[in-house]
Amino acid sequence: MKSLEIRDLTVALTASPEQPIVKGLSLTINTGEVHAIMGPNGTGKSTLSKAIAGHPDYQITGGDVLIDGESILEMEPDERARAGIFLAFQYPAEIPGVSIANFLRAAEQARLAEGENVDAAAYYKRLYAKMDDLKIDRKFTARSVNEGFSGGEKKRCEILQMAMLEPTFALMDETDSGLDIDALKVVAEGVNRLRGERLGVMMITHYQRLLDYIIPDFVHVMYDGRIVKSGDKSLALEMEAKGYDWVKEELATASA
Ligand SMILES: Nc1ncnc2c1ncn2[C@@H]1O[C@H](COP(=O)(O)OP(=O)(O)O)[C@@H](O)[C@H]1O
Ligand SMILES: [Mg+2]
Repeated sequence: MKSLEIRDLTVALTASPEQPIVKGLSLTINTGEVHAIMGPNGTGKSTLSKAIAGHPDYQITGGDVLIDGESILEMEPDERARAGIFLAFQYPAEIPGVSIANFLRAAEQARLAEGENVDAAAYYKRLYAKMDDLKIDRKFTARSVNEGFSGGEKKRCEILQMAMLEPTFALMDETDSGLDIDALKVVAEGVNRLRGERLGVMMITHYQRLLDYIIPDFVHVMYDGRIVKSGDKSLALEMEAKGYDWVKEELATASA
């Protein structure tokens, strides 16, 4: 078992480091676990995932992030990826003229030491095996990355990327706005196929709907840069029924 430990983390924009967005957040994700993070818009969910992945716009101003007890804060984003972290993007970029097959192969190549090369035959064998597992049509890999993709196709590309990279910790940031039911199911089926002993998942979502398809082991409610409630899947249903204002009221009562 491996662990991703987020310890009392504070994150700010690199451009304004004195104003925290994530305000002392602690969470440990072990391999084999799926953690859902819910919370209203603007509460710092995307900031959290990007800061862990090492996005340059965000600065970690306090606390630590550790994999198996080793801090990753000094690592560059590519080193963090090699250490097993995968960040799925909320708004994926289009890369016209670059096929999915070549894109994934370049990603594979980037992880090798200098002078080593991806073995093409072995690469395609692996790619097609993963596609078969995920029930993705082989013709799909000839398409340019995200170009003219439907919501569902973007998600299929992302899940395939995740399957090929075999991360230890997947940080998935899903807005439900713009996620049609097809895309939602692609994400859910992909995560359900890939989840298991060797993968820990942090699934960020605004609505409970996605969690009808992915049953999380733990649910956390994030509010104003912190986790204010944790529980099992029933917490997601409770939040859906009561809304986030309920958390606000509860916090106000607690601090009064
Ligand atoms: N790159 C950025 N530039 C300016 N403000 C940002 C940026 N990223 C996040 N923020 C601000 O930080 C807060 C949290 O944003 P975000 O992490 O995207 O929240 P969530 O994903 O929970 O909706 C918001 O007020 C948002 O406007
Ligand atoms: Mg977000």
